[in-house]
Amino acid sequence: MEKLRIPGPTPCPPEVLQAMTKQMINHRGEEFAEILNGVTDKLKQLFQTKNDVFLLTASGTGGLEAAIVNTLSPDDKVLSVSSGVFAERFATIAEQYGAEVIPLRFEWGKAADADAVGKALQADPEIKAVLVTHNETSTGVTNDLASISSVVKEFDKLLLVDAISSLGSINLPVDEWHCDLVVTGSQKGWMVPPGLVMVSVSQEAWRARANARMPRFYWDFAQARNYLERGQTPWTPPLPIVFALSVSLELMLKEGLPNIVARHARVGRATREGVKSLGLSLFADENYASNTVTAVSSSDGLDIKKLLRILREEHQVVLSGGQQKLDGKIFRIGHLGLVTEEDIEAVISALKVALPQAGFVAIK
Ligand SMILES: Cc1ncc(COP(=O)(O)O)c(C=O)c1O
Repeated sequence: MEKLRIPGPTPCPPEVLQAMTKQMINHRGEEFAEILNGVTDKLKQLFQTKNDVFLLTASGTGGLEAAIVNTLSPDDKVLSVSSGVFAERFATIAEQYGAEVIPLRFEWGKAADADAVGKALQADPEIKAVLVTHNETSTGVTNDLASISSVVKEFDKLLLVDAISSLGSINLPVDEWHCDLVVTGSQKGWMVPPGLVMVSVSQEAWRARANARMPRFYWDFAQARNYLERGQTPWTPPLPIVFALSVSLELMLKEGLPNIVARHARVGRATREGVKSLGLSLFADENYASNTVTAVSSSDGLDIKKLLRILREEHQVVLSGGQQKLDGKIFRIGHLGLVTEEDIEAVISALKVALPQAGFVAIK
């Protein structure tokens, strides 16, 4: 069996896969209401929030679009805190819907600086909302969301967070950190196939929604809230994915959020140590290195495409390459969801064999 170690989709536990073989049910009936209410309640525990939490049928990007169109109007000024592919995407969505995006860019591989966020907000009081990517999957960096959030709230701005590859794996206490809108995706640490995004919506986000004039229909949170009161989603949900999520949430709560976070921290550390022990360098600033994905820099002679092919064909280990300007410059190891230190040992062992075959020469 392939060892899928990309930063999502992630492998699913057997119980989760089994749940998806269940026969279809009436999505407007009592059985589904019970499942949806249970899932919502469990998600609130794992989001550490009392805010509303909704399921939307989409990949992560749909959730980001929902966050934008529910809170903003065309011409609203938004600050985009960015240092990678996914933060740029979040900003592009806002731009496409007519927002005026003020970019605050940091070098890829580095974390966002909360003081710089404060300066940008100070410089332009008209900024209404701040877009932040908690865990930048393209570079393997986890931003210091607690510090960023405290600055954003000092200026009383709306905080929209892409937590697609962090929530449920890396600590993100949504209420304690005053995050107004938080988006995550089923295919990441939740150990469920792609198809659902889960979003939390604060009172402040609801107030923003009341005045937000960007066009929306499918993504309208008011519809989601109305239907959830009846134990339903506005549109037909992907039932097998909801069944799967229901089981994975049970597994997650059984393990306990602090234990899940601690396991990801251990696995993240083991990955970084393993990579360095092979003579490779980490792409991300190690002080902010992600516990869900490790980006590894290329070095002279190393052919990353060849490396990924050898790993896949000869070791059944599937890793990811770099995206956009990082294509050919880094490779990424995903370690979120169903993952242990032993899984990472297998990756490091395979790398040890494959690296010299792909042209890598360790500097002694
Ligand atoms: C941080 C982050 N944001 C957004 C996305 C986009 O999600 P999707 O590909 O599910 O639309 C991803 C997916 O990898 C991600 O990691």
